[in-house]
Amino acid sequence: MRTVQQILDYKGHDVWHIDPDAMVLDAIGEMKTRDVGALAVTEGAKLVGLISERDYARGVALEGRSSRDTRVRDVMQSELPTVSPTTDVETCMALMTRYRTRHLPVLRGDEMVGLLSIGDLVAAIIADQQSTIEHLEQYIATG
Ligand SMILES: NC(=O)c1ccc[n+]([C@@H]2O[C@H](COP(=O)([O-])OP(=O)(O)OC[C@H]3O[C@@H](n4cnc5c(N)ncnc54)[C@H](O)[C@@H]3O)[C@@H](O)[C@H]2O)c1
Repeated sequence: MRTVQQILDYKGHDVWHIDPDAMVLDAIGEMKTRDVGALAVTEGAKLVGLISERDYARGVALEGRSSRDTRVRDVMQSELPTVSPTTDVETCMALMTRYRTRHLPVLRGDEMVGLLSIGDLVAAIIADQQSTIEHLEQYIATG
């Protein structure tokens, strides 16, 4: 089973983030610029939350609020699961299911060293399965 570290080595350690006092409109704009569905919310180097497209849809659009006048801190998720570089993919999937989230910040101690999405985990699982199939095909062919 792959670990978070192995996925980060492949996808990279950059984390796109935003300040909790920024406006939601700026968060959505940054998500578009980076072509991602969520941003880590940070105060200095400290992770304080996560804001996703879902938080915008439910916390702003559905409530009839304006993204120009609503601050990130007012709609972000502040109770969120995090993982470490040594966490395995299966544990990440279980956390996403339990907390109904599609993104997991990766912390080494207090330092944020990456962020994984559900797509990263699905891609890792498919790659593992593909590798197992290829090994079995080779075993059958040479056996
Ligand atoms: N082929 C792949 O390896 C792969 C990996 C991930 C996603 N995808 C595709 O992208 C689409 C959307 O993906 P999603 O729903 O998983 O989420 P997403 O759009 O939020 O994430 C897309 C990619 O951006 C990264 N990302 C997201 N937010 C980030 C942030 N704040 N900082 C740094 N990196 C960040 C994710 O880790 C992921 O690699 C889907 O169609 C999915 O299939 C493909």
